[in-house]
Amino acid sequence: MAVNAAIAYHEKTGTFHLWNGNISYIMSVLENGQMGHLYFGRRLMDREDFARLQREKTTGHTSYVYESDYLLSLDIVRQEYPSYGTTDYREGAFAIAQPDGSRITDFVFSGYEIRDGKSAPEGLPGTWTGEENASYGGAKTLIITLCDHKLHARILLFYTVFDAVNVIARHAEIYNDSEDDLVLERAMSFSVDLPDDNFEMLQLDGAWAREMHISRRPLTHGIQAVSSTRGSSSAEHNPFIALLRPDTNEDQGEAYGFLLLYSGNHIAQAEVGRFGVTRITQGINPFGFSWKLCPGGQFVTPEALAGYSCRGLGDLSRTFHRTCNRYLVRGQWRMRSRPVLVNSWESAYFDFDEASILSMAAKAHQLGAELFVVDDGWFGKREDDRRSLGDWVSNRRKFPDGIEALSEKVNALGIMFGLWIEPEMVNMDSDLYRAHPDWVVGAPGRRRSPGRNQYVLDFANPEVVEHLYTQLEKLLSRCTVSYIKWDMNRPVTEPWSKSLDPDRQGEFFHRYILGVYRLYEKLTARFPQILFESCASGGARFDAGMLYYAPQAWLSDDTDASERQKIQYGASIAYPLSSIGAHVSAVPGHQTGRMVPLKTRGDTAFFGQLGYELDLRKLTEEEQAQIQEQIRFWKAHRELFAFGDFYRLMNPQEGNFTAWMVVSGDRKKAILGISKRLAQPNPPQLCVRLAGLSADACYEVKGGVSGIYYGDELMYAGLYPLQGYAGTSPRNALAGRVDSGEDKGDFTSQLYLIEEK
Ligand code: DGJ
Repeated sequence: MAVNAAIAYHEKTGTFHLWNGNISYIMSVLENGQMGHLYFGRRLMDREDFARLQREKTTGHTSYVYESDYLLSLDIVRQEYPSYGTTDYREGAFAIAQPDGSRITDFVFSGYEIRDGKSAPEGLPGTWTGEENASYGGAKTLIITLCDHKLHARILLFYTVFDAVNVIARHAEIYNDSEDDLVLERAMSFSVDLPDDNFEMLQLDGAWAREMHISRRPLTHGIQAVSSTRGSSSAEHNPFIALLRPDTNEDQGEAYGFLLLYSGNHIAQAEVGRFGVTRITQGINPFGFSWKLCPGGQFVTPEALAGYSCRGLGDLSRTFHRTCNRYLVRGQWRMRSRPVLVNSWESAYFDFDEASILSMAAKAHQLGAELFVVDDGWFGKREDDRRSLGDWVSNRRKFPDGIEALSEKVNALGIMFGLWIEPEMVNMDSDLYRAHPDWVVGAPGRRRSPGRNQYVLDFANPEVVEHLYTQLEKLLSRCTVSYIKWDMNRPVTEPWSKSLDPDRQGEFFHRYILGVYRLYEKLTARFPQILFESCASGGARFDAGMLYYAPQAWLSDDTDASERQKIQYGASIAYPLSSIGAHVSAVPGHQTGRMVPLKTRGDTAFFGQLGYELDLRKLTEEEQAQIQEQIRFWKAHRELFAFGDFYRLMNPQEGNFTAWMVVSGDRKKAILGISKRLAQPNPPQLCVRLAGLSADACYEVKGGVSGIYYGDELMYAGLYPLQGYAGTSPRNALAGRVDSGEDKGDFTSQLYLIEEK
C-alpha cells in the first residue's frame, strides 16, 4: 500500500519526523534549544523518541555549551543548521555579522507549522505542488522557526516531503526583526550531518564542450567541495553532488544526492570532522558574498533537493528525474512532448538570409521536423560575433521585411518558428552600449575584460532587466514565435554594479541571478506558449534552477555523437532526458573532426530532445530518407524517451561502449541503445544486461538480435548484441558473422525496440 507523505511532531521529545513510503528525515530540539539532526535515510517506523540516534555525548577534549556539563558540545552532536563559534569548529550553514562586529549567534527552536503542499521560494526557482501535478501525489511542508532573542532575528527552515518522490526539499529564510543592520556572510540552503564518512563523493565536472564528466573519490578528512565563482552554475562544476557507499553501483547500494536549484555561484561541500561525521552543506557560494539585511529585511536562500535511495545510483537518478519532471518544470511544456527542431547554428553560423532560412525551413518541414530555429545572427548588424548583442531588432540586410515577416513565412511552410537571444550580453559595437555604457558590469576605473568580444549587462540593476523585458516583449509580441533559445556566452568578470551601494557589492552575483530569474519569470508569464531552452555556451548553466523557467537546456556545444554520449550519460545522473537538448550535426564533427555514422548520431540524440543542426539540403537523398525515418521513429516514441524510466547500463566515460535504455512506467515498452567507440577485431562477446523490465513478462525484441525473451533472461542473462566486424574472411562469412553493414567500423550503434507480447 502506498504511504503518503507525513510529518509528525512528538512534543515530549521535541522530535520531528518526516517520511513517505521510502525515506525518513528525523531531527529534534537539542538541550540548548538548537536543532539537532538524527537521521536521513531509508524509512523508519515512527515513534516518540529517536534520541539514541544522536551521537553518544562522550567528552572529546573540546569545549562545552554549559559550565560543568561535559556532555553537550556542538563539536560533537549532529545538527540541522549549524553556525561556527559556540563550540562547533566546522564550517556552519550561516554567518551573520552584527553591529558590534560579532558573528556569534544562538538560534533556538521557537515554533513550527505544517502545511499541505509546497510552493517555490519567493523570487526563486523551486518545486511546487498544485492542481496540475496532483495526480502524481502531493506533499507536506514543515516550517521550523528559530529565534536569536539577543539579535532579534529569525531563521525559518523549510522542509518538504513528497508522497511519491524520495527527496526532501529544503531552503532557509532569514529575517531581521531588530533595529540594526545585519550582514549575512553565509546563508546556505541546507546542512545535514550524516553519522559516518564511509562514502565516495560523485561530482559532475568539465569544461566548455566537455561538460558533465563524472568523478568519484573516497571522502577524506577535511573539506572537499565543488563550486563556481563564474556568475553561472558553470560547466566546470555542476551544482550537484552524490554520496555513495563504496560498493554502491547503478543497481544497488545506498546513494544520497544533493541538487541545488540555482544558476549562479554555488558550493556543495562535504566536511568530514574528527569523529567521522560528514557535514554536507550546499547553497550560494559564500566566497565574495555578503548581504545587508536592513531592519525588517528578509533573505531567502535557493532551494536544494536531498534525495536518497537504498537501490543504487540509477534509482537515485530516476528519483531526481521524476522530481524535475513532475514538481519543478512549470507551464504548458511540463510533461509534454517537445517538437523536433532544426537549428541554423552549425549549418550556417552567421551566414544566412531570408531565402536561405526559408529553404532550410522548407527542407526541415519536408523531412518531418516541426520547428525551425534561427540561431545567433538575425539581429542588429550581426554578421560575426563582434557586434550588435543588445539590439534585439531585425537585421535588415538579412531580412529586409523584418524578422516578424520571416516568422510568418516560416509558419506558412507548416513549421513552427524559433529564435535565439542572449539578453544578458552586449557588444561595444551596439546601439544599446552606445546609449547605456554604464549598464555593463565592471568596477569603476578598472579595465573590463572581454569574453567572446562581449560584455555582461548588469542584471543586478532592475532598470537593465526592465529595459530588456520591454525590448523582448516588443519583439515577441510581433512575431509568431514558438521557441526561444536563451544563451549566455561568457562568465562574469570585474563584478560590480553601479546600482548597489559600496556596502552592498557583495550582493552583486546573487542579485544578478535574481535579475535573470525575474526576466525569465516575466517573459514566461507573458508568453506561456513559448518553449524556452536555456544555454550557456552549451552546458555552462545546465542546472535545476533553469529548469523551472526553461524545461530544456542545450547540454553542450560538442555535438560529436561519440563525445555527446559521455556528456549525456553524465547529465543523466541528475537531470531527466526531457531536459537534455541533443542534436544531430554534420560530419566531420565541427568540434572533433570525427566521422560518426548518421545512424549513431541519430541514436544518440534520441536519448534527449531530438534536433538537427546541419544543412539538410546538402545531404544525399539517402541521408535525407534516413533522417526522415529517424524523425518518424522519435516522434512515435518521444514520450517514452522524455518521461520514461532511464537506466544506464554501460558507461562511455569508462569503456568502449555506451548502453542505456528507457522503460515505460508500466514496463510494457522499452528502447535500448548500444554504441561502440572503436571497433576491435575478433572481440570478446558483448553482454548487455537490461534493466527495468518485468521479470516474468514476455518481450519481443526488435533490433540487431531480434527474438522473443522473458524479462528475467534479458535482465539476468543479458542480450548478446552482434558486434559486427570480426575481420574479413570467408570463414566468418560462412559462419554467418556480419562483417559489413552498419555495425562495421568505429562509432557504430544499435537500437532495440522491446515490447511486451
Ligand atoms: C553558443 C551556443 O551554445 C551555440 O549553440 C550557439 O547558439 C552559439 N552560442 C551562438 O553564438
